[in-house]
Amino acid sequence: MLSTSKGLGRVAYNFCARIHVVPAARIGRQRRLQALAAINNPIGARLAMVLQQLRADEPDESARWSHRIEAKRRELAVCRNVIEGQTVRHVCSASKKQRPATLLHLLIREFKPQSALELGTCIGISSAYQAAAMKLNGQGRLVTLEGSRSRIQLAQEVHQDLGLDNITYIQGRFSDTLPHALNAGEPVEYAFIDGHHQEKPTIEYFEMIRPLAADNCIMIFDDIRWSPGMWSAWQQVVAHPSTRIAVDLVSVGICVITPTLHAGSRHSTAPILA
Ligand SMILES: C[S@@+](CC[C@H](N)C(=O)[O-])C[C@H]1O[C@@H](n2cnc3c(N)ncnc32)[C@H](O)[C@@H]1O
Repeated sequence: MLSTSKGLGRVAYNFCARIHVVPAARIGRQRRLQALAAINNPIGARLAMVLQQLRADEPDESARWSHRIEAKRRELAVCRNVIEGQTVRHVCSASKKQRPATLLHLLIREFKPQSALELGTCIGISSAYQAAAMKLNGQGRLVTLEGSRSRIQLAQEVHQDLGLDNITYIQGRFSDTLPHALNAGEPVEYAFIDGHHQEKPTIEYFEMIRPLAADNCIMIFDDIRWSPGMWSAWQQVVAHPSTRIAVDLVSVGICVITPTLHAGSRHSTAPILA
């Protein structure tokens, strides 16, 4: 074990496990971001920059998209139409709120994936934020998977109203549709897992995506503290040898994976309040 840099508190390097814990729990958010930016992997600095940006004003063009998507959310949030036995407004409440949805948007703006995968379309709020980022990037397509036919239909209407035409929809259970989505595409550069929040399926989806991931694929897991099972799933993702960086944002976990094993240090953060 080794202690480093003054001001960053105690940063532990465990050479056996090749895990670098950034940093001790007492240290504040800003210091944790500095520590993330300082790890010996340039992706760490880019992730830290995105997290800083989330606190600052969004770039104008992103803010314009955010206003439009939030106006659409407000419409849905008062809609009493019933789909599959639930009001739209009730279903809408499961959508990512503005701030975490903006995080997804900013990650896509920064990493500019050609292919992005989403598990859990629901009625299309998080997909709108991600697809809008790809529009602004001038490249890329979002493939989004959803079990409910009615939800995916409504999401399509939402996206049409917003002028988002860079989304492919795949309806069906993830266990059936994910292999198909993965076979069809390029190496996965980005994936957002936001459905079926249980330990075993979450690990199964990780294991299905992992071998087809591009180097430095960004994977985001929602609700990592939703249940002991989800927390266990996140811990397994963090501990996996192909995980190079794992950032704990309390409700959301971001990891950077490379499918090929090669010697090199791995980095994992203590919780950072995004
Ligand atoms: C939390 S919602 C997604 C919210 C959406 N990402 C957003 O923020 O706007 C999860 C969605 O995953 C879908 N889902 C859950 N388990 C699934 C499964 N095994 N196969 C397909 N869809 C599933 C649900 O129908 C639900 O619409």
